[in-house]
Amino acid sequence: MTTLVWDYLQEYENERADILDAVETVFSSGRLVLGDSVRGFEEEFAAYHGAGHCVGVDNGTNAIKLALQSLGVGPGDEVVTVSNTAAPTVVAIDSVGATPVFVDVDPDTYLMDTDQVAAVLTPRTRCLLPVHLYGQCVDLAPLERLAAEHDLLLVEDCAQAHGARRDGRLAGTTGDAAAFSFYPTKVLGAYGDGGAVLTSRDDAHHALRRLRYYGMEERYYVVGTPGHNSRLDEVQAEILRRKLRRLDGYVAGRRAVARRYEEGLADTGLVLPRTAAGNEHVYYVYTVRHPRRDAVIEALRTYDIELNISYPWPVHTMTGFAHLGYRPGSLPVTEELAGQIFSLPMYPALAPDVQDKVISAVRDVLAGL
Ligand SMILES: Cc1ncc(COP(=O)(O)O)c(C=O)c1O
Repeated sequence: MTTLVWDYLQEYENERADILDAVETVFSSGRLVLGDSVRGFEEEFAAYHGAGHCVGVDNGTNAIKLALQSLGVGPGDEVVTVSNTAAPTVVAIDSVGATPVFVDVDPDTYLMDTDQVAAVLTPRTRCLLPVHLYGQCVDLAPLERLAAEHDLLLVEDCAQAHGARRDGRLAGTTGDAAAFSFYPTKVLGAYGDGGAVLTSRDDAHHALRRLRYYGMEERYYVVGTPGHNSRLDEVQAEILRRKLRRLDGYVAGRRAVARRYEEGLADTGLVLPRTAAGNEHVYYVYTVRHPRRDAVIEALRTYDIELNISYPWPVHTMTGFAHLGYRPGSLPVTEELAGQIFSLPMYPALAPDVQDKVISAVRDVLAGL
């Protein structure tokens, strides 16, 4: 049987009764859209983070889009982010009419190199949008300082960092707003699409509720800028409520898998994830690096192990973003990484004996290169 890079079926087997009970709870509640489950999840997710407000939305991309719109980011504005991210980060910036501006990433953590941000600020810069990639947090302290000095907004992309902390602070609790995805693979994953925005700003909260609901405050009446239909689904919200109670357990499970990889692959020449000081990594993706990545992946094919590359193409090199004007070589660390990184199977229910097969396959392949 193929070992998948991510597999929810084991989790489903373990949690089946609770998941099906969540579905039954909603189906028999008499309210299928924006009911008690969305409200309950929003309260509980905000409370978990100690945040003022949570607004449930339909996916993580729209969480970023609505977060930006709720703070007034739009056409003519520049948003500073990274190209080493999932394309949706940048798609969301583009979708509000703003211009993404990229800085390179740190060669050790693969996260935004915050030292490069000051150099790309212009009078049009409106927002800084760090991505807590792979499960560890960007150092937000220098970004907070820049935001204060230049009157900029700070929006965190937390799609890959549920439960992650840096210097004790949970991902999603520092910026003006923070966007989460609950895509099934995520550390807190739904059984379908889902997303949320956290904010402690009352103005953004008010705008978010309106924007996800066509632009309406009252039913059938649009006020201000027309919005979208971007509601978090009631069934997914109820599942997420149940799973939120287990989030710390999922994180512990991921850390145990990471530790086993560390022990099993320490002396192989593979570059394993490096955790920056102060970070409590949640290992959404277990990203490793090797200069002969393609040969390693090719050789691993025969072992029936699925691997992934997050991400094979830096966003600034995609034809869909050619209009931004970046040339090959403009973000050298990001570009080099894209040719060298790949990710190993990682999910909390990954059984140790299955993981050991992955470790021994990788060891075999590296020894034979
Ligand atoms: C860093 C990052 N940002 C944004 C998103 C978008 O989330 P979604 O797929 O729920 O729209 C994802 C996930 O795909 C992501 O990994």
